[in-house]
Amino acid sequence: MNAHDAIERRLPAADAGGAGALGDPARRLHRLEPAELLYGRLLASAAAGGEPVEARFRIAQGRSQKLPLGRWLGPVDATDRAVLAHAEPPVLDIGCGPGRHLAALAAAGHDGLGLDLSPVAVRLARARGAEAILRSVFADVPRAGTWRSALLLDGNIGIGGAPGALLARARALIAPGGIVLVETEPPGVPTRRVRVRLETRAAISTWFGWATVGADGIAPLARAAGLEPRATFAAGGRWFARLERPR
Ligand SMILES: C[S@@+](CC[C@H](N)C(=O)[O-])C[C@H]1O[C@@H](n2cnc3c(N)ncnc32)[C@H](O)[C@@H]1O
Repeated sequence: MNAHDAIERRLPAADAGGAGALGDPARRLHRLEPAELLYGRLLASAAAGGEPVEARFRIAQGRSQKLPLGRWLGPVDATDRAVLAHAEPPVLDIGCGPGRHLAALAAAGHDGLGLDLSPVAVRLARARGAEAILRSVFADVPRAGTWRSALLLDGNIGIGGAPGALLARARALIAPGGIVLVETEPPGVPTRRVRVRLETRAAISTWFGWATVGADGIAPLARAAGLEPRATFAAGGRWFARLERPR
């Protein structure tokens, strides 16, 4: 028996937050899988172009949203390019996923490295010409303290469920004078720690810690982590902050 089919469980409706776009979860059996495994399987199947799998990202006691697998696997868009224009190489992409930002940087001749916990994501990033390693941001990171820029894009400020600790870690990884580019939620969205999981019609992942930070919540977190908030900007309907490690 492998981890994919280790456990089957019938979800109580309250646990799943009620019936959502995937139908009434109380009426179906779901496999319970470790989050990295389910995420990897979804990425691999979407990358192979098979039958599209509808996957969702659910906040405990809250709403779910579609997992943007197509966006992660696709090329960068104009907004991504506008944000990457702020990044000075070498660039550390924290939670690089399938590596679209690194691939764009590499195509522009910029040195970069991606870190990700998912072996599938790392393999896909490498196949795109990006340099990426299977590594947690909280483990030993090559060239720590020398990166000129670190990226926390597309929700990645949520990694670990403790944005203050994540920013402090990012600060330790960049050089003095280096920057962290963080994508946030729009202004007014509260900073909060949440439990989340992935869901498909057939499987659910174990819950894991995540966090959301609004555009107006990033500055105090950054200062507490030893980073200077230099700018907050919107591009293509998304919000970003540029944080600098003092020299
Ligand atoms: C929301 S996806 C973002 C993917 C990518 N940044 C993009 O925009 O295309 C979050 C990624 O963070 C990775 N991740 C989660 N925890 C991590 C950790 N502690 N260290 C490194 N990567 C992590 C996940 O495996 C996943 O690929």
